[in-house]
Amino acid sequence: MDKFVVSGGRALDGEVAISGAKNAALPMLAASLLSAEPLRLSNLPELRDVQTMRRLLEMLGAEVRAEASGRICASLAAPKSLSAPYDLVRTMRASILVLGPLLGRFGRADVSLPGGCAIGARPVDIHVDALRSMGAEVKIRGGHISARSKGLRGARIDLPLPTVTGTENVMMAAALADGDTVIENAAREPEVRDLAGCLNAMGARISGAGGSKITISGVRRLHGAEREILPDRIEAGTYLVAGAMTGGRVALRFSGELALGEVAAALRKAGAKVRFGEGFAELDMAGRRPRSVNLATAPWPGFPTDMQAQFTALNAIASGHALVRESVFEQRFMHVAELKRMGADIEPLGREVLIRGVRQLQAAPVMATDLRASASLVLAALVAEGETVIHRVYHMDRGYERIEQKFSALGAEIRRV
Ligand code: EPZ
Repeated sequence: MDKFVVSGGRALDGEVAISGAKNAALPMLAASLLSAEPLRLSNLPELRDVQTMRRLLEMLGAEVRAEASGRICASLAAPKSLSAPYDLVRTMRASILVLGPLLGRFGRADVSLPGGCAIGARPVDIHVDALRSMGAEVKIRGGHISARSKGLRGARIDLPLPTVTGTENVMMAAALADGDTVIENAAREPEVRDLAGCLNAMGARISGAGGSKITISGVRRLHGAEREILPDRIEAGTYLVAGAMTGGRVALRFSGELALGEVAAALRKAGAKVRFGEGFAELDMAGRRPRSVNLATAPWPGFPTDMQAQFTALNAIASGHALVRESVFEQRFMHVAELKRMGADIEPLGREVLIRGVRQLQAAPVMATDLRASASLVLAALVAEGETVIHRVYHMDRGYERIEQKFSALGAEIRRV
């Protein structure tokens, strides 16, 4: 299994290109199941999770091919299967995103229950309840979701939690339903709004996405479309935090709208200068040590849970004390034990941690446990004294495209062994 070897102590200074967003690419690839005509996606990131989703679409009978332009073209003329098997779903929970499109278009879907993962139980009860309220018959047995419908009908759905993939699944199922569906307490993440834009380009009639109330008026069929994937706001935030932690300067180039939201404010609170231009963002720390930043994660537009581990690492070496609260997932502090092995002073207090910044972390062998936790270990290794070995880096390959090349371009000493 690949490992990273990182030598710490250098201020980053350079520029990286931000890839397309994993969490925009996955639902859009799933949306291609809704049409027999091709959905042509550009700026698709080369990530393990994207490869997994492409494999799943092909298992279902979709045609997925790369065009000379670099676009990925996906369409499903006639399904080969309507089932997403466990051995694939267990490697990527986002496979649940095929449930809505398959049920909406073909009236049937059999999707393995995605297991829990390092950050929590990750139930899909809200997805299932929403589809039942649209008239689907959904049975869960033997770790499988079996959904049937003679034609979904529009419904008023009040989500108990603003679930991101739950909102996306309902939008895709409702796109071809009979009548209007209203989703209350919908997730407001930029990727949800972008998926609605993609579905509308395919002929759907969706309004209000990006807000808490989304209305979908069902249509008879969807056609092909062409879309560019949003830049990855979590990848971008991760590199900016690396610049802040090392006292360096990091510039980002990207195509499309980069929605950093609360992350930009948190970086400024840490003492960084952050400026934005067209397709450009830059953080300059000018050699300063970051200041501690208190934060609590929340659904968009709050501070993103996917940036919590990175800011826990920043607070580990910041000047002062910080309280970091994880309000979205029940156990998203797997990185804390590893950071403490490197000398971080972090006190777990249930759903939050109290972090007392130390001047210097020490290199140590550490283990990645989940995608964002593994990124926080790379960040810590960049400032630790000595050579850190990070095990199980396959977690990072799920969501960070060419991560060691990009960090090397910023001046980091990192190599995959
Ligand atoms: C999406 O996961 C993202 N994944 C996650 O990114 C992200 O952390 C998360 O949203 C929160 O922003 C993709 O978009 C592919 P949720 P999702 O449903 O949709 C509870 C990464 O690192 N819940 O919004 O699975 C759930 O347990 C990944 O890129 C239910 O209780 O997250 C959690 O506590 C990690 N029942 C909360 O809602 C349900 O049916 C938010 O989960 C669904 C969710």
